[in-house]
Amino acid sequence: MFAAISGTAGVVKLYRASNFFYRKGWHWLSQLFYLLNYFLHSVKLPASCKIGSGTNLAHNGFGSLFHQKTIIGKNCYIGCMVLIGGRGKHGFNVVIGNNVLIGARSVILGNVKVNDYSVVAAGSVVLKDVPSFAVVAGNPAKAVKTITKENFSDYFFKRPIPNTLE
Ligand SMILES: CC(C)(COP(=O)(O)OP(=O)(O)OC[C@H]1O[C@@H](n2cnc3c(N)ncnc32)[C@H](O)[C@@H]1OP(=O)(O)O)[C@@H](O)C(=O)NCCC(=O)NCCS
Repeated sequence: MFAAISGTAGVVKLYRASNFFYRKGWHWLSQLFYLLNYFLHSVKLPASCKIGSGTNLAHNGFGSLFHQKTIIGKNCYIGCMVLIGGRGKHGFNVVIGNNVLIGARSVILGNVKVNDYSVVAAGSVVLKDVPSFAVVAGNPAKAVKTITKENFSDYFFKRPIPNTLE
């Protein structure tokens, strides 16, 4: 069992277990798996978050903290020490699409959508929506590059080029 939870996707396996029991209403068991993630990987990933299949957290999500209503799509890659949280009067409604890459130490706050096939550079502070096929960087994060057919594989390696990319 220890090998299963300490492997590369251990954080996601523990989250899946905690999310499963959360949906069943077995909150004490859900909390147990949440706490295992916290103590083993120093990540706060609440059971109530929604995370799509194929999404992974680098270094088992080390140092990352996610708001309890965070929604993350499929096949995303999230670097370590990422913070997804509220922004005071702006509230919280962060939705990460599918195939999004989020660099280490990024901060995503408030009411924003990070759309499919976008890249958030390491250390960015995202306060506004990120369009599809954009690379954003800085504080506050701004578009620094557009993802095209030519440079798609620089970011998404062996993934097939999507039909939606002009
Ligand atoms: C964004 C990233 C993918 C690089 O993309 P890229 O297309 O090769 O970007 P470039 O290096 O050509 O840089 C483009 C511009 O963005 C800027 N930029 C790139 N990364 C940046 C960052 N993290 N923060 C601020 N600006 C950044 C560059 O300075 C450059 O600006 P300029 O045009 O004014 O010179 C990369 O910098 C990055 O942040 N990767 C994430 C790594 C990571 O977190 N791994 C996970 C470890 S757990």
